[in-house]
Order: sequence, then structure tokens, then C-alpha cells
Amino acid sequence: MDIGCGSGNTAKILSDELKYDRIIGVDIDPNMIEFARINNQIKNTEYIVQDISNDWSLWDEKLKKLSGKVSVIFSNYCLHWINDIERAAINISHLLSNTGIVVVDVLYCGDIYRNVTNEERKKFDEILKYPTEQKVIGRWVSAFKNAGLTKIDIKYWEPKSIYPQKFYFEGIFPKMINILSIIKIFFLCYYN
Ligand SMILES: C[S@@+](CC[C@H](N)C(=O)[O-])C[C@H]1O[C@@H](n2cnc3c(N)ncnc32)[C@H](O)[C@@H]1O
Repeated sequence: MDIGCGSGNTAKILSDELKYDRIIGVDIDPNMIEFARINNQIKNTEYIVQDISNDWSLWDEKLKKLSGKVSVIFSNYCLHWINDIERAAINISHLLSNTGIVVVDVLYCGDIYRNVTNEERKKFDEILKYPTEQKVIGRWVSAFKNAGLTKIDIKYWEPKSIYPQKFYFEGIFPKMINILSIIKIFFLCYYN
């Protein structure tokens, strides 16, 4: 299962990399699901609209039938959008089979104050209350542990772009700060 599958590009990559019976992509955004259905319809793959932080009792009936049956739960660049992470972790644990594995990444934006003075840092921090790396990653670790997933492996990855930085600055983020230089990615793996 690909959580926050977006356009379905990652589901397509997973289908090339893994031996699978079925791949299910879920995303909160119906437009993304529609796009994935049209552009990344792969054999035995289905895309379903679902907010992964919704109460389990309100989940799509098709997905509820997968309870305890999903062998790999993957999520790329999505979990940082979730507010109710405790509930999301419980839902993930509902879906996972006894021998299943969860492979997810959690983004952290590094030291966003690195180019400001100490005085400015203090002032901004009072307003933004920007959490520490430990807090952001720790919240997910605790949520998964509380949901019963206790074996955990954490890896830190320096993000690498397949496109030249020019692509981001002249293309999609013309006015943004050098975002690639500060984003940190933590890969968390959980085993049942
Ligand atoms: C940056 S995109 C990543 C898409 C895809 N995983 C990829 O790597 O190309 C993040 C996706 O997470 C989805 N998303 C955000 N919150 C979600 C939630 N609560 N439940 C399910 N999907 C969510 C968004 O709609 C969006 O498509």
C-alpha cells in the first residue's frame, strides 16, 4: 500500500521493484486519485480516496477488508501533512499483516534560522515555535510504538535531487529559499 500516493508515480516504481499481488494507492485528494487512475493504471493496482488520519470506523469499506493483510506499507513525502499522527499510526497498524513492514519517510526542514542572527532567531522562535528534529521524529516513533509497532529502524538520508537546482529555482520555486539544502529526510522502518 502506498499512502499519500499522489499521482501514482511511486506506486508505479513500487510495482517495478516489488513482487506483488496487489498494490493499493490511497490519497486524501480525489483529484490526485483521478490523475493516478488515468495516468498510472498498472496491473492489479487500485487507487482509493482516503484520509489516513480518519477514524478507522469511517474508512472506505474496501480498505477495511484489508485489515491485517497488507505486507508492505510505504509512504513518501506525505506524513508531514498529518495532524492526528496517533490515529494515522493506529490505522497503519490495523492494516499491517503479522509479518508486515512499514517504510515511511518523515521530513524535517533542518535549521530554518541558520541565516539569521541569534536575536532574530529568538524572536522568530517565539512566533513560530518551530519544533526540534528530535520532537518531530520522536512523535512518529512514539505514535507507532503506541500503536503496537515496536521494532524500529531509523535512517537519515541527505536528500538528493535528480534534477539540477536550477529546475527548482527557475521552475517551481522561483521565490523560495534554497529548500533542498535544508530539508532532512528520515526513513523509519517498522516491523510487526
Ligand atoms: C508531496 S505528495 C507525495 C506524493 C507521492 N507519494 C510521491 O512521492 O510522489 C503528498 C501527498 O500526500 C497526500 N496526503 C496529505 N495528507 C494526507 C492524508 N491525511 N491522507 C492521505 N493522503 C494525504 C496529498 O494529497 C499528496 O498527494
